[in-house]
Amino acid sequence: MSSPTRDAPITTRDFLAWKSKNRKIVVVTAYDALFGRLVDEAGVDCVLVGDSVNQVLAGEPSTLSATLEQMIYHARAVRRGVTRALMVVDLPFLSYQVSREEAVRNAGRVMKETGAQAVKLEGGAAMAATVGALVEIGIPVMGHLGLTPQSVHALGGYRVQGRDEETARRLESDAAALEQAGVFSIVLELLPAALAGRITAARGVPTIGIGAGAACDGQVLVLPDLLGLNDDFAPKFLKRYASLGDEVRKAVGRYGDEVRAGTYPDAAHSF
Ligand code: KIV
Repeated sequence: MSSPTRDAPITTRDFLAWKSKNRKIVVVTAYDALFGRLVDEAGVDCVLVGDSVNQVLAGEPSTLSATLEQMIYHARAVRRGVTRALMVVDLPFLSYQVSREEAVRNAGRVMKETGAQAVKLEGGAAMAATVGALVEIGIPVMGHLGLTPQSVHALGGYRVQGRDEETARRLESDAAALEQAGVFSIVLELLPAALAGRITAARGVPTIGIGAGAACDGQVLVLPDLLGLNDDFAPKFLKRYASLGDEVRKAVGRYGDEVRAGTYPDAAHSF
């Protein structure tokens, strides 16, 4: 990546400063120490330990069954690989919706047990008081609006949100409510580019888009998707920057051929 590297760890304050300087923010997911280290070395600004891990790595149909223990396990692993980028951890479904007390306790566990610098949660005005409670005790929060995967069943599937005027207006006021509650940034997922642009222009905190067009202050992609490891997933917004799925199949195929032929291990790979 051509973005400038610097040694000081990135903080949530950098996000706010970058918004005012029009400096784009690069976010990617990671779920383990190995890829955490690689993406950190590649110079990303922020590593999101997303609850997408439940679909992408665990093969579940949605993020709904992700647990707090699972998120803590993956975040601890990512923390061992990431030293510079800001690390944000998703609060899984039902870890913050039941009560503010539970949200504080569970977000607090994530911060204490993983070394994360922030948590992310889904929802707009309805979550503002919860966001406020977390921010008040010193837990930075990233918001998430639009297609919020933990509400996939209520939303009727993984589809673009805010195409009609009423939903668009609600999303704009949700973004305002989140900013007022103290979030340091807001993920906008699957929104028309024009709506995401309006929200971005109206808000003082950066927006991070995924399927929300180029006007957002930053972009986030799910790492296995951008690396081409997840061949079956091909939404319009996704650009693959590598074809690692093909590379893995080829490499493992060659290894299998050589083991079967008795050419691996050869003398050079034996003691
Ligand atoms: O879980 C996740 O990976 C996410 C991103 C898609 C924003 O929430």
